[in-house]
Amino acid sequence: MELLLSELISKNRYWTSFGRVATYIPELKNADQNALGIAVVDMDGNIYKAGDYDTKFTIQSVSKPITLMLALMDYGPEYVFEKVGMEPTGDPFNSMRKLETINPSRPLNPMINAGAIAVASLIKGKDNQEKMNRILGLFRKLSKNPSLDINENVYFSEKKTGDRNRSMAYFLRDVGVIEGNVEDILDLYFMQCSIEVTCEDIAQIGMFLANHGLVKETGEQYVPKHITQIAKTFMVTCGMYDASGEFAIQVGVPAKSGVGGGIMCAIPNKMGIGVVGPALDKKGNSIAGVKMLHELSKQLNLSIF
Ligand code: DON
Repeated sequence: MELLLSELISKNRYWTSFGRVATYIPELKNADQNALGIAVVDMDGNIYKAGDYDTKFTIQSVSKPITLMLALMDYGPEYVFEKVGMEPTGDPFNSMRKLETINPSRPLNPMINAGAIAVASLIKGKDNQEKMNRILGLFRKLSKNPSLDINENVYFSEKKTGDRNRSMAYFLRDVGVIEGNVEDILDLYFMQCSIEVTCEDIAQIGMFLANHGLVKETGEQYVPKHITQIAKTFMVTCGMYDASGEFAIQVGVPAKSGVGGGIMCAIPNKMGIGVVGPALDKKGNSIAGVKMLHELSKQLNLSIF
């Protein structure tokens, strides 16, 4: 396996020069444009890694299916899906144009920014600190990495420049989708996006989803199976934004990407995969990461369809 992964890295690294690192969050432009790394965790817990697997990056939108699971555990699907829809948008992840045109007004799904901000408003806790501790605790547990933490530079950078998200959040309060202090909700969202990880961390989280919420070592059902199914279904239909259809055809696995360059895949009953490649394509997905997953899926016959 490690040999195969190393070959895929060598073969696909040149794609990194065709993408661009995200710059709209200023701190992200310090990422290494040419980095490419991968980690695979199988059902027995074996870990295989290749390339720049040590590269640290912020989790960004890869966090969205995970915080969705927390909101679903806190409030249940019925209430959560009153606030946020279940349909793909076909629009970029930060688009706001459909917010006002659909009736009743609510974000189309929890994988776009507006939807994830609505989800952040549904995390329980007596204050923001407690809510953040619950979010961070969940990521630490699922990644099996107790030292995961926030990259404060990225967090402050996004907080300072996140006016597009800020405008959507205020709009969402105006139409009654979110309640309470908008700046606190945004803070929680910016912090969840700024959790710093490696591709092994997100491969472990992918494995947890692949194993339907069961922690294999302890036999503990940490997240109910039906909630992990909801998260994986959104990963298939909306996880790669307006490239989700093409990704489903070419790779065929539940996946979630982020503008930090991460892609997390959960292949039911098989494996979790984490990829890092900060050079992004036009739709905001890791350009070399997608190419590499396409080939890996073909070689290992991973498509779930
Ligand atoms: O809100 C934002 O724009 C970022 N914190 C996360 C966006 C993201 O990762 C979308 N990814 N492709």
